[in-house]
Amino acid sequence: MLLESPPSVSDKSFSSADGRDESRPYDPYGDDSSRPCDRRGAIHRAQGWGEAAPGSGNPSNEPRSFEHECRANAQRMSASEEVRRLTLDWVCETAKYKYTYNFTWLGRPIIQLPADIIAMQEIIWQVKPELVIETGIARGGSLIFYASLLEMLGGDGRVVGVDVDIRQHNRVGIEAHPMFKRITMIEGSSTDEDVVRRVYEQARGKSPVLVVLDSSHTHEHVLRELELYSPLVTKGSYLVVLDTIIEDMPDEFFAHRPWGRGNNPKTAVRQFLKASSRFQIDHAVEDKLLISVAPDGYLRCVRE
Ligand SMILES: C[S@@+](CC[C@H](N)C(=O)[O-])C[C@H]1O[C@@H](n2cnc3c(N)ncnc32)[C@H](O)[C@@H]1O
Repeated sequence: MLLESPPSVSDKSFSSADGRDESRPYDPYGDDSSRPCDRRGAIHRAQGWGEAAPGSGNPSNEPRSFEHECRANAQRMSASEEVRRLTLDWVCETAKYKYTYNFTWLGRPIIQLPADIIAMQEIIWQVKPELVIETGIARGGSLIFYASLLEMLGGDGRVVGVDVDIRQHNRVGIEAHPMFKRITMIEGSSTDEDVVRRVYEQARGKSPVLVVLDSSHTHEHVLRELELYSPLVTKGSYLVVLDTIIEDMPDEFFAHRPWGRGNNPKTAVRQFLKASSRFQIDHAVEDKLLISVAPDGYLRCVRE
């Protein structure tokens, strides 16, 4: 159901039943300009943007910022049990077809949900990290993604990726990519002492530092990664723990995996947060994404 496009203004633009000009976009608010910016404005109004959110407790229609309104809408959306149920149903149904394997970033396969990719883009713009560290490289699309954003930001930002098994064809593809100039790859387990030492070497003197954990998804492994890599995350930056959604999905999805309900990144995050006051779950991210592999996994570093 979520795959369907939301009703858009232009969907109605070719109905001539009421005798309107068929070449012009339908505007339920009477704005019949066809200039692109006006059209966008009409779509925003049709979706309730730029007005007091229905049921948002702003009857006086006080002016409020766009950001404030988006946040309020996302909170209400996320609080809807129906929306949450539909979202999880959609994630589970599409997971049967390996939905997350369908995408590439600048030509390299990236095993992520598109919404999480957008969230990471927003975080990287906000934090402007000098270093991004990711455990779990696979085919390298996520490393290329971070590197390409750092390239656009300018500066000397770099990416360090760690994987226990960098397959030869992936290494060749990643090393041949124009963004490889910003990437260092380290082969070995992310919890191996020597690997950790090499990552710390790369992080020396760098700030801000952003860490993404996307390797093995067992509770024990992720908890160890959290302990080892969280000290590198700088205040105001993020520690992103992917695949926390395993806790919310039926066990049958992970029948042949060492992780599952009760043993996954989310259970590791819960245990880690009991002992660490440096990080808080940034619920604003998941409230607006909904479709995410990382519910409770976007951790903001709030203390030095
Ligand atoms: C989900 S994939 C990573 C996807 C990648 N981040 C992306 O977005 O395209 C998980 C990767 O973690 C690696 N991995 C598994 N166990 C590991 C470990 N102990 N240390 C480091 N990497 C590990 C696997 O080899 C695999 O390539």
